[in-house]
Amino acid sequence: MSLRSSYTVLAPIYNAVVARATARLRERSLAALPRGAGSRILVCGIGTGLDVPALPPGNLHVGIDLTRAMLARVPHRHDLILAQGDAMRLPFPDATFDRSVLHLILAVVPHPERCLAEAARVTKRGGMILIVDKFLRPGQTAWLRRALNPLSRRIATRLDVVFEDVLARVPSLVVTEDVPALAGGWFRRIRLEKR
Ligand SMILES: C[S@@+](CC[C@H](N)C(=O)[O-])C[C@H]1O[C@@H](n2cnc3c(N)ncnc32)[C@H](O)[C@@H]1O
Repeated sequence: MSLRSSYTVLAPIYNAVVARATARLRERSLAALPRGAGSRILVCGIGTGLDVPALPPGNLHVGIDLTRAMLARVPHRHDLILAQGDAMRLPFPDATFDRSVLHLILAVVPHPERCLAEAARVTKRGGMILIVDKFLRPGQTAWLRRALNPLSRRIATRLDVVFEDVLARVPSLVVTEDVPALAGGWFRRIRLEKR
């Protein structure tokens, strides 16, 4: 089963499962976005649009996702354009966006380093990348998560992604904030700056 097929199946229940647990975390992450600045903001792997209510007004947003059934549930906003596409091969020129949002997408895609490199490519120098996701720490055993990963990565998400390993592959990015967020720090809220 491909990720697109599984998220097509998950789309009708996604909000019921995920919305409540992640609402405050999303708000905290998106508080870093400017208000009324006319910035261009990429929302990568936008899913059903759970981030949309917390996007501050006065900017132009582009949301991209692989799965049409998820995109079909994104709430309408006049300042939000949607596109179907692959976060590992973004269909945008270099330095298109002032900010990029990667909420629950880096640990989902099969090649997180490609996804992060693409976000870095399309983000302007001095711009910011906002991440919320679940990551292992370097050297963390997490045997159960690693054991479940071969199944989980095919139907919903990877469980074995070490953020530091991914970041090391994208040298143009530096960490400006990295805080434990949920589930004993398994989920982290991270801000990166493009240098
Ligand atoms: C866990 S959901 C997260 C959705 C949303 N970002 C959120 O925070 O609720 C993962 C999303 O990534 C999308 N996705 C999976 N692989 C993708 C890819 N290669 N490119 C773009 N989106 C992808 C899925 O369709 C799904 O909507």
